[in-house]
Amino acid sequence: MEFQAKWIQASKDIGDVCPVFKRSWRSEKNVQRAELYLTALGVYEAKLNGARVGAFVLAPGWTAYDKRLQYQKYDVTALVRQENTLEVTVGRGWFSSPMPGWMDSEDKARRMARPRGILGALHLAYEDGSSEVIGTDADWLWGESAVRFSEIYDGETYDAGFEAKEWAAASELDWPYEILIPQEGEETREQERVMAKRIFRTPAGETVVDFGQEITGYVEVSLEAKQGQVVKLLHGEVLDKNGNFYNDNYRSAKAELTYICRDGAQTWHPSLTFFGFRYLKLVEFPQEARPEQFTGIAVYSAIRRTGRLRCSDPEVNQLFSNIFWGQRGNFLDVPTDCPQRDERLGWTGDAQVFVKAASYNFDVERFFRKWLRDMAADQRADGGVGHVIPDYLPDNVPSAAWGDAATICPWQIYLTYGDVSVLAEQFESMKGWVDYITHATTTPYLWTGGEHYGDWLGLDAPSGSYKGSSREDFIASAFYARSTELVVKAGKVLGKDVSEYEALYDGIVRAFRAHYPEYRTQTETILAVQFGLAEDLQKTADALAEMIRRDGCQIRTGFVGTPYILHVLSAYGHNDLAYTLFLRRAYPSWLYPVQKGATTIWEHWDGIMENGEFWDVAMNSFNHYAYGSVADWVYEKAAGIHVLEDAPGFARVEFCPQPDERLEWLEASIDTRNGEVCSRWTHTAEGVRYEITTPVPAVIRIGERRLEVEPGSYTLWG
Ligand code: BGC
Repeated sequence: MEFQAKWIQASKDIGDVCPVFKRSWRSEKNVQRAELYLTALGVYEAKLNGARVGAFVLAPGWTAYDKRLQYQKYDVTALVRQENTLEVTVGRGWFSSPMPGWMDSEDKARRMARPRGILGALHLAYEDGSSEVIGTDADWLWGESAVRFSEIYDGETYDAGFEAKEWAAASELDWPYEILIPQEGEETREQERVMAKRIFRTPAGETVVDFGQEITGYVEVSLEAKQGQVVKLLHGEVLDKNGNFYNDNYRSAKAELTYICRDGAQTWHPSLTFFGFRYLKLVEFPQEARPEQFTGIAVYSAIRRTGRLRCSDPEVNQLFSNIFWGQRGNFLDVPTDCPQRDERLGWTGDAQVFVKAASYNFDVERFFRKWLRDMAADQRADGGVGHVIPDYLPDNVPSAAWGDAATICPWQIYLTYGDVSVLAEQFESMKGWVDYITHATTTPYLWTGGEHYGDWLGLDAPSGSYKGSSREDFIASAFYARSTELVVKAGKVLGKDVSEYEALYDGIVRAFRAHYPEYRTQTETILAVQFGLAEDLQKTADALAEMIRRDGCQIRTGFVGTPYILHVLSAYGHNDLAYTLFLRRAYPSWLYPVQKGATTIWEHWDGIMENGEFWDVAMNSFNHYAYGSVADWVYEKAAGIHVLEDAPGFARVEFCPQPDERLEWLEASIDTRNGEVCSRWTHTAEGVRYEITTPVPAVIRIGERRLEVEPGSYTLWG
């Protein structure tokens, strides 16, 4: 155990002010190696002799804190001197911010009353072979920090002129040690720096900074000022139809930054909170603001970009950009629904909808594996999976297509990266979810009688409802089949006896066909094909195409149907219709928000309506990645790069590009565990040119042709 240390906290309540813990010492000997192990209840920033320790922002990250708390290890050898001071400032972070924002005030107060403590140990190895550990204990001091307020939703207040004068001995804190785990996820880091594009005055007379791109993170401000002058900013995603600053859609999240200046030139950014924003309203600024004084810093998990999508249409390329930015902005240690309003939770439904696209766009293996372990840890005794992980909504009844993240996510991570251990690790959790349904349903072999989100935000929702018209039991039963199928597949990969689940699966398919002989909505029809439930898949896909045409060649789907609609069309001979939906400009479509200036993916197809009005303020995020799942259709169907179930991790690949004349060319690549695969097609006067690069043996299918090829680059004509 690395921690020869005790949990410590401030010896008295200082309300919203963030405590700083400090320990000074003198090294008499020469240090050969110094390693710091550190974690906190809250989020911490550590400084050794004034220099920041590590690049991890918002450490120790967000996990199912009651069961699993990560600690980090830093090599600080280069920072150690003879006279040393280690200081650790702790903010509320996810641990004691009042999340989610709609909790009643008693619950909020309870969460905010959680302690802010640290546990750390500095291991010093000296050149003479001896060693020493400086662990947190009652010898540490604590004081008030310059961070006068910090919270996930409301923002941060920093007083640069503040200096702690009173230091007192820290108190020991009674908190478990068994929950400690070494860092599992990716570190959250500062990534892109986005310069302010312009500063302008709105019709309402506000001064607004525009970064030209919605990001998640914070702003760095530089200015020359006098002690006590104040910078006060509000964050927003969009302007209203009159061009004024707007952030009512953040709901109760204040998203405010206050910085109290010291004398002279200074540069500052917050370090214990984050925001989702494109615009800043300068509520107070001591001088005429210039764009070069503001830099947006994107903060998210250190996931490596692996996917690229490009084509001949600039608006489609903007959509691709929005999808990537949507992922960056919502992959801050946990896959979240959105980064701005009083929510920012690890919604399971959103994550399962997007996991495939996410896993092609970036290397998210570690990221998801950590989150899936939290899911297993927070899974209820009866196997139920909460709506959000970490489970901050423990009283909610599990919902179909949300809880199914327990099977869909591990299976996809296995397929994309090829490491079977994710299945081994999650198998009990996967089974637990299916068993939960088996016990919760009121009809054997179907899932009836539950409470669900249905086809969330479906365009065919009856007026006043968030749920599309697809039957909830239908969706639940279809996902019951899918999850059971995935347990069977995973079990077989692991060499387990899954005969019980095979029999269950057969029973579900039979019951499903008997109960649901007809499909009433686009989403119902899509699920029947995508999950292999319809008796005649081709006929059902044809019926879907017919239905879409009857609907005026428009999507009518929500969270459940949207990720699969284009896949079903392209897989069953309706590729032209898939492109018609994909390239549609008018509402509802993927490109409608692009026309409206979107730089990330919106929660609603019409977050900003045609008349410029907003969708209801109660739920209108402009950075919600779910509908960005269309990227997986671009990789798999448009560019035709297919991962094979019997060759996970792209050990072999199938290429089956499906071009359309409305795009002159399109290109996709994925840097897989086995090398980079790339597919490009171009319409030329001589026909369609296909360029394919594969680092592994592959099958290329173009029209009726089927070609088995060795690793290499190929040009074919069709
Ligand atoms: C979230 C979603 C989530 C949904 C549950 C919303 O508030 O933002 O994306 O999946 O609730 O239906």
